[in-house]
Amino acid sequence: MGILLKNISTLLTLEGARRKEGRRITESDLGLAQKQSLLIEKDKIAWIGPQGKLPKEWARKKGLKEIDMKGRTVLPGFVECHTHLIFAGDRAAEFEMRNQGVSYQEIAAKGGGILSTMKNTRASSLQQLVNQGQKRVNHFISQGVTTLEVKSGYALNLKDELKVLQAVQKLDGVRTVSTFLGAHALPPEFKTYESYLEFLADKVLPEVKKKKLARRVDIFIEKGFFPAEASEKYLRRAQEMGFEVLIHADQMSLSGGSDVAVKLGALSGDHLLQITEREVKSLAKSEVTCVMLPTADLYTRTKYPPAKELIEAGARVALATDFNPGTSPTQDLNLVGLLARLEMKMSLPQVIAGYTVGAAYALNLQSEIGSLEIGKSADLICTTQDWQCLFYSVGESAEKTVFSRGKKIFD
Ligand code: NIG
Ligand code: FE
Repeated sequence: MGILLKNISTLLTLEGARRKEGRRITESDLGLAQKQSLLIEKDKIAWIGPQGKLPKEWARKKGLKEIDMKGRTVLPGFVECHTHLIFAGDRAAEFEMRNQGVSYQEIAAKGGGILSTMKNTRASSLQQLVNQGQKRVNHFISQGVTTLEVKSGYALNLKDELKVLQAVQKLDGVRTVSTFLGAHALPPEFKTYESYLEFLADKVLPEVKKKKLARRVDIFIEKGFFPAEASEKYLRRAQEMGFEVLIHADQMSLSGGSDVAVKLGALSGDHLLQITEREVKSLAKSEVTCVMLPTADLYTRTKYPPAKELIEAGARVALATDFNPGTSPTQDLNLVGLLARLEMKMSLPQVIAGYTVGAAYALNLQSEIGSLEIGKSADLICTTQDWQCLFYSVGESAEKTVFSRGKKIFD
């Protein structure tokens, strides 16, 4: 058994980027090699080497299937590490309002924003959410995504938050990583952020854990949303229960989110556009992965995070779409990468590493995915594009074959 991909014109292993733990990436960290072959055994990468040099013990094995890559480029599957994929309805009317001058916070304070998506999501059945979610998953897969993070957070009560997480478990094709984001906004049933967080920690997190619906907890620390102090207490409780934590931090104002992330050793701090030199330094020294979400910055027309400063200071940076109906109604990885290049001046190797190794770290899956190395999961993109044409043309749909855990999931 086994699948040999032969005739690969350029292979990008990203091994160097993984060795540098996703920090200060340059072209030499992409592991570029010409005329290569790659062997998949079951769900793992078994061998990588020059064309025609497959060791005899493998070549002799029965049932080896060869696939001619016909000069394609092969790279690790993309890791999309921040989405709010399960939601019902849209917020197009709000987008128009925001565009005409009403702020995100004003809309939220009037019961719009996250709470409007909450009403639609609570009213949807599990099956409706799965059906809609699967279409969105398929769209990610067609772009080369092999691992997909999905947050809850549009239901904000026990029953429906669990329903959303159950929907994530029913999604097919990619490896999914679910995150509990009950602390996304204050639902109408509660008067204070503190009492809602207590409810989440006392009643909801134990259920999520018992039912094994998520092993990660996220929170939206922001003015008009969850305050830093109460959030820190909540996240500590989550950590005591064995959850990994991460934070929507410093998106609309400098609200202490990055500080809490560093203090608690969060897996990631996401957004970070309001941070100053002080936070850049402390994030760079930490293990926190800095997740940049430039399409959200485009839609909210604020500014972009200081990616270049973070990278130069030694921080690990990842990229993601933040796909959600409010601030980032797009699943377009190319647009994310293009904005990272144009607006954040990230180099192309940094963008590629951000969508592979960096994002794998954000999910704490760096030993399984994100780079092409022997023993790692056979998650890969085989594309007709030259690597330098990646994240270049918005709306492109180059021919590609996508493998996840050794299985073809898109062709
Ligand atoms: O990542 N910032 C908080 N959460 C989302 C927005 C959610 C929404 O507006 O529906 C974000 O941008
Ligand atoms: Fe988000």
